[in-house]
Amino acid sequence: MTELMNRLAALAQITDGDGLTRLFLSPAHRRAAALVKSWMEDAGLAAHIDAIGNVVGFNGVPGPKLILGSHIDTVRDAGWYDGNYGVLAAIEAVRRAGDLSFGVEVIAFGDEEGVRFPKTLSGSRAVAGSFDPAAFDGRDADGIRMAEALKNFGGDPDGVAAVARDKAETLAYVELHIEQGPVLEAKNLPAAVVTAIAGASRYQVTVAGAAGHAGTVPMDLRRDALTAAAECFLAIEAAARAHPHTVATVGAVTVKPGAPNSIPGEVVFSIDLRAPEDATRRAAAADIEAAVTRIAGARGVTCVLTQTHEAPATACALWLQDQLAAAAEAHGIAPFHLSSGAGHDAMAIAALCPVGMVFIRCAGGISHTPEESITAEDADMGVRILVSFLQNFVPERNNV
Ligand code: HGY
Ligand code: MN
Ligand code: MN
Repeated sequence: MTELMNRLAALAQITDGDGLTRLFLSPAHRRAAALVKSWMEDAGLAAHIDAIGNVVGFNGVPGPKLILGSHIDTVRDAGWYDGNYGVLAAIEAVRRAGDLSFGVEVIAFGDEEGVRFPKTLSGSRAVAGSFDPAAFDGRDADGIRMAEALKNFGGDPDGVAAVARDKAETLAYVELHIEQGPVLEAKNLPAAVVTAIAGASRYQVTVAGAAGHAGTVPMDLRRDALTAAAECFLAIEAAARAHPHTVATVGAVTVKPGAPNSIPGEVVFSIDLRAPEDATRRAAAADIEAAVTRIAGARGVTCVLTQTHEAPATACALWLQDQLAAAAEAHGIAPFHLSSGAGHDAMAIAALCPVGMVFIRCAGGISHTPEESITAEDADMGVRILVSFLQNFVPERNNV
């Protein structure tokens, strides 16, 4: 096992339970942030944890900075490498690259997955200067406001605005990440350059019908919230299939009262909708809203659809793609470019500066489950590509 793989294994042990589950501002996030900070310091970076819980390492070179990074929060029962690989690989790459003539920050963001609170990308949005303070009022499943959780974490809601970086002082952002899809494995490639990140919309839908006794209410007198929701699930699936390269997922569902002998009176479910083109995603969203309204009317229930997240499709800068492709080619990897169906902190950072991403292969394209896996060789290849990129980096402003 390499030092990088050993560190990823050690980081994966820091969890709030339920396999690897490390949610934004949780005790496990706090412990993981402290460990990542120590590794940044081992690599010679001056490190601190900022007001919104990002871990920031800086190489000390004055002037405009290149930012590297990814996230250390996870989904529930996650794999070990989504996000965490990109952070530790960036730390290792800066260490191996040696002295550089430009400033470099490595940032471990804490809220890319957006599992705990309604809003997501809080840490990267704060760095980009686009954090919306209204997100502080978002509450988790236990009713805890984000602002309270941040204070308990040791952060400072009043200090979040000052986290924003100056565009004039930021050269670019580059993120290493596992592909989370099957393409690189199918192409027998260890790594590839990302062209764009699909845009995403998230919704919470509340279906309200009439709870009742499962044994006494005739079928034609029911206003069953769960069967109405079930019809919505199939309509959401049909809407995604009807639009090119569009995906929609109902990933979380709660049923009240949730007893086997009670007719469900209320169902709350999530919708995650994505497409490479924003116009396509918006057309699919319109179809979904129309279908939900139609089903509610036909079944005598109410369906309230609330959008909780929106991130436009994000193009990776061509000049960064070129330099990352050259770095990959320097290690014998034929240049290959692919788009990302998964979301990343780079979507938020794109509001601050040009962004680039490199994917490394993951087995079976599996992610967001404990079966997620990478090889030590591919993990090291990602680091080597980033080292070459750093050592040959020419900021766009000098590209002309
Ligand atoms: O949902 C995503 O695409 C990312 O893993 N947060
Ligand atoms: Mn990720
Ligand atoms: Mn993820």
